[in-house]
Amino acid sequence: ISLQPYNTFGIDKKARFFVIVSSISDLKEALAYAKRNELKTIFLGGGSNILLTEDLDALIIKIEIKGIELLKETEDHVLVEVGAGENWHEWVLYTIQNDWAGIENLSLIPGTVGASPMQNIGAYGVELKDVFHSLKALNRSTGEVETFDAEQCEFGYRESVFKHKLKDAYVICYVKFQLSKKPVFHTEYGIIRNVLAEKGVRDLSIKAISDAVIAIRQSKLPDPKKIGNAGSFFKNPTIDLEFFEKLKSEFPEIPAYPVPEGMKLAAGWLIEKAGWKGKRIGNIGVHDKQALVLVNHGNGDGKAIAELSKEIRDSVREKFGVELHPEVNFL
Ligand code: EPU
Repeated sequence: ISLQPYNTFGIDKKARFFVIVSSISDLKEALAYAKRNELKTIFLGGGSNILLTEDLDALIIKIEIKGIELLKETEDHVLVEVGAGENWHEWVLYTIQNDWAGIENLSLIPGTVGASPMQNIGAYGVELKDVFHSLKALNRSTGEVETFDAEQCEFGYRESVFKHKLKDAYVICYVKFQLSKKPVFHTEYGIIRNVLAEKGVRDLSIKAISDAVIAIRQSKLPDPKKIGNAGSFFKNPTIDLEFFEKLKSEFPEIPAYPVPEGMKLAAGWLIEKAGWKGKRIGNIGVHDKQALVLVNHGNGDGKAIAELSKEIRDSVREKFGVELHPEVNFL
């Protein structure tokens, strides 16, 4: 079947086998089928962080395990378990309706709840790990469901243990969140404060922050329903202080902020300055409002996008001596 409806880049590649699972027992059955038939398996959530570069000779298992369950409520907090297949943004809206604070800054991120710990999604000063309690994942070699707490997930910037040591070893089925009934607002990003001021917001609320984040994202990031994309294509690179000072003397206006390992640079700025912003090559290109986003204008080829990303990496390396690493997973 064509995977075009199942990836936000809208790439038309085929899968040999495809199944949707809505429970852990479905999932076990699909894995057993794959084992019997010696099929490779690939898991899919919202398909919002992948680039398909070829047809897949595998069983694609789309996780649609649903459900939102309030497990515990205290004066200050709630503990909620959410199925991996729930849509991320719909879950965020649900928390706002219930006055549960913590993920309002993560509004409008495409994808599913199950994919969120995978790369520790983040935006506007908040990361998944800030509200994460634990997750349940199926161990693919034993078939047992195991629990991981935050420490075991080894979260980093767009990183977790599931992208490294435990790559392909587990399937995330449920995620537990600890949210707050007494909100702590994250407005340290200037752009959020600006939008709130423009809208004349006086009484800060999680709804107001969510609305501001939605407005910002809609103004910069293409809607995958209209223009195929997978959000930021690269991670923002970190360089050491010595190298940063050198770069800064050559490019005084370079945007950067300090992190424990040195300075984090804005990949979008590097790509723009290397001349790529808004470039179009046939059906694919670089978004005109955010150079960190590669786009498929329609019928674009995944291989061509992979090649474009390589050219961008090469030119950023040449101009700045900085190495970019994809955030998107190539399949
Ligand atoms: N910039 C440019 N030109 C561009 C794009 C950006 O000069 O074409 C500059 C901006 O002027 C700004 C800086 O780069 O000074 C940062 O830009 P922005 O605030 O748009 O954020 P970002 O660093 O490009 C990251 C995340 C986004 C997240 C935003 C907001 C990564 C890889 N990306 O983008 O996450 O929404 O911050 O927190 O960390 C994603 O992961 O898919 C994603 C969209």
